[in-house]
Amino acid sequence: MTLPLCVIGAGSIGQRHIEVAGLSDHVRLTAVVEPNAGLRDQLAQTGLPMVAALDDVPADTRAAIIATPTQDHALSGAACIARGWATLVEKPTAGTLDAARALVTQADTAGVPLFTGHHRRCHPFSIAAREALAQIGDLVGVQGLWSLRKHTTYYDADWRRAPGAGPLLTNLTHEIDLMRFLVGEMLEASALLSSAQRRFVIEDTASIAFRFANGALGSFLISDAGASPWSFEAASHENPAIAGSDQDYLRFVGSDGALAFPSLTRWGRSGPGEIEWSKPLTKLPGQSFPRIDPLLAQIDRFAAVVNGAADDVLCTGADGIKAMEMTLAAALSGHRGHPVKAGDVPGNYTGV
Ligand SMILES: NC(=O)c1ccc[n+]([C@@H]2O[C@H](COP(=O)([O-])OP(=O)(O)OC[C@H]3O[C@@H](n4cnc5c(N)ncnc54)[C@H](O)[C@@H]3O)[C@@H](O)[C@H]2O)c1
Repeated sequence: MTLPLCVIGAGSIGQRHIEVAGLSDHVRLTAVVEPNAGLRDQLAQTGLPMVAALDDVPADTRAAIIATPTQDHALSGAACIARGWATLVEKPTAGTLDAARALVTQADTAGVPLFTGHHRRCHPFSIAAREALAQIGDLVGVQGLWSLRKHTTYYDADWRRAPGAGPLLTNLTHEIDLMRFLVGEMLEASALLSSAQRRFVIEDTASIAFRFANGALGSFLISDAGASPWSFEAASHENPAIAGSDQDYLRFVGSDGALAFPSLTRWGRSGPGEIEWSKPLTKLPGQSFPRIDPLLAQIDRFAAVVNGAADDVLCTGADGIKAMEMTLAAALSGHRGHPVKAGDVPGNYTGV
């Protein structure tokens, strides 16, 4: 059954959700809510069903995608859930853990599905990586490197140089959700921050260590000042504004071998007996997958779940909170100078 759905907020990511809603066979766009009159009129001229407020959304609507500024997610989310609409809210779920938890509780109480827009999970190679990881034995650790040099004019807007706008809160949160998706729960983070390159008050580079509940450890270098071919976006070509490189940027090591991501190149047993350092490992190429639009895959999955399908890929509201919590733990650790456990992040902490 085609899902009648509205998109709330027609800014940069909202327009991508509108685009994929138009491409999907599984949803029907009933309305786009946009309070900015100029933008609303401009988009209405392209034939989109623009409205100024939530109250103007047609009554047959059953679901919403919220793509408003983060500070509004709690308000718009509560209004959608109160209407009984299945809701997919952009990441982060809300501005604080307290607000995100209130939203998830409201959805659970009302029996309304709530998801967070960590769309990287929806790539076929992300889904296949879970099976590939099972083939490298007990997971020992993961090493990640995300470094893209953002253009200088990116920082012309004042808010992009203000506390909270650095790569930790802007970019690392997707990495944390993906690592949780692939490896499992994360317990604590320890971070070092540097602003030596751009010399803003916000970090341009961070080095973070993570502990996972299964005993594995992780380390991650993230920078928006270092030019490199290593990032999810460059590896996946998912963002037309970011040049592709086809290079792996995550490496998993296990007791029986290793896996590079996203190529899923695997290093494993070359012969019988104990796997140990005197024996070479055999390199096995990963399966190749067609490039997809992950936002289209996400909206299709969302529609299927609302219509009753089971799904273990989409980021639930609870998953979204966990990703927020570890991102904030990393930020708090960087600012305080000591490791921070997930449960020790204050509910009202905004990461600055
Ligand atoms: N998943 C991703 O990769 C990804 C990428 C970019 C942004 N985001 C997230 O998406 C959200 C939006 O980011 P953006 O860059 O598109 O912002 P944006 O500023 O480009 O767009 C936000 C839009 O929402 C509108 N708006 C504001 N209040 C509203 C309300 N109450 N009801 C309806 N519309 C309202 C604004 O007028 C604006 O058009 C943020 O939370 C951001 O973190 C996620």
